[in-house]
Amino acid sequence: MSQTILVTGGAGYIGSHAVLELLSADYEVVILDNFCNSSKESLDRVKTLTGKEFTFYETDLRDRQGLATIFKNHSIDSVIHFAGLKAVGESNEKPIEYYENNVVGSLVLFDEMEKAGVRKIVFSSSATVYGEPEKNPISETAKLGHTNPYGRTKYMIEFILKDIQKAKNWDIVILRYFNPVGAHASGDIGESPNDVPNNLLPFVTQAAIGVRDHVTIFGDDYDTIDGTGVRDYIHVVDLVLGHIKSLEKLDKDKGLFIYNLGTGSGVSVKEMIDAIREVSKKDIKVVVGPRRAGDVGEVVADSTLAEKELGWTAQYNLKDMAESSWRWQEKNPKGYA
Ligand code: NAD
Ligand code: WQD
Repeated sequence: MSQTILVTGGAGYIGSHAVLELLSADYEVVILDNFCNSSKESLDRVKTLTGKEFTFYETDLRDRQGLATIFKNHSIDSVIHFAGLKAVGESNEKPIEYYENNVVGSLVLFDEMEKAGVRKIVFSSSATVYGEPEKNPISETAKLGHTNPYGRTKYMIEFILKDIQKAKNWDIVILRYFNPVGAHASGDIGESPNDVPNNLLPFVTQAAIGVRDHVTIFGDDYDTIDGTGVRDYIHVVDLVLGHIKSLEKLDKDKGLFIYNLGTGSGVSVKEMIDAIREVSKKDIKVVVGPRRAGDVGEVVADSTLAEKELGWTAQYNLKDMAESSWRWQEKNPKGYA
């Protein structure tokens, strides 16, 4: 019999791609989202793309009653917990909202899971928990740091999960994502920022389509191949397949596991802009500006542990990431709006 997975934040960028892959792999899916950074449209499209049904609850993570109802109505095997606020800059302006939404929301979810006897979870963490890395590539045993309230929420939730695992014997996979980009091959679901994008890739595709006048490169004086920031971009479909491997891991092995999900290869800002120029055949205007506060030169994952223990490696390359991002942008110039 197929397993039932509760996906929190399932209408969001990564969550919608995860729901699509879970349905394609014949999992039963129950979704919780409050649409604070997404819309129903993503889920409608997932339904059309897969031709499969799922159950959706418009509920806030912090709504105990709402969560209790979900656990009462469904026999949930595992939870994939994506729901959260994720903008680094905004978290500096609104720390209370970030701690309340991400940390309190996660605590309510964990409490209701425990009450319902659901003790398996895959949690969306982030490379941000490494703060300023001492060396690259970064392995899971590297020293942790945190430079902003958003990063601290991830750091705190990781430690909360470790304590729950010890006390209550949960089975947990914590996934530290590097830089998720790209879209489903159809170009029908993708990243749809509500406002001016914080991340590089949506900004570049918006500049290519003419929504933005130019891209500002945040510093070209880093100690990297061309002076611009280097990151480990990972295709969102590869990323969500790592979650399915994690569910499979929890079927076999008990305890708490932490994995980086990245490709192990660094790509500079200039290389990423060139990749989008190539696939879009658009001339993208670029202006070099100062470094962005809090940025570091290079962040690249050592993902060998995920390869060894999950049997997972990233399959998509930079061209795939650029092509799928551009297809999504071209088909949806205004996102889901
Ligand atoms: P997203 O904003 O597109 O998706 C998050 C979803 O959670 C949204 O649909 C939002 O409406 C929902 N949500 C937020 N707070 C909620 C609440 N209190 N109750 C119910 N629903 C709520 O973001 P994403 O890029 O898909 O990220 C998913 C997860 O992955 C987040 O936890 C994020 O921190 C983490 N992550 C993202 C990145 C990235 O670059 N995209 C990198 C590392 C980690
Ligand atoms: C990538 C590179 C910028 C925009 C952030 C979060 C991290 C994680 C992923 C959630 C950097 C440069 C960017 C622009 C630019 N999210 N850049 N011009 O900062 O690596 O990571 O998203 O967990 O926590 O911090 O990603 O896409 O913002 O930047 O030159 O307009 O592009 O300086 O070198 P980042 P990013």
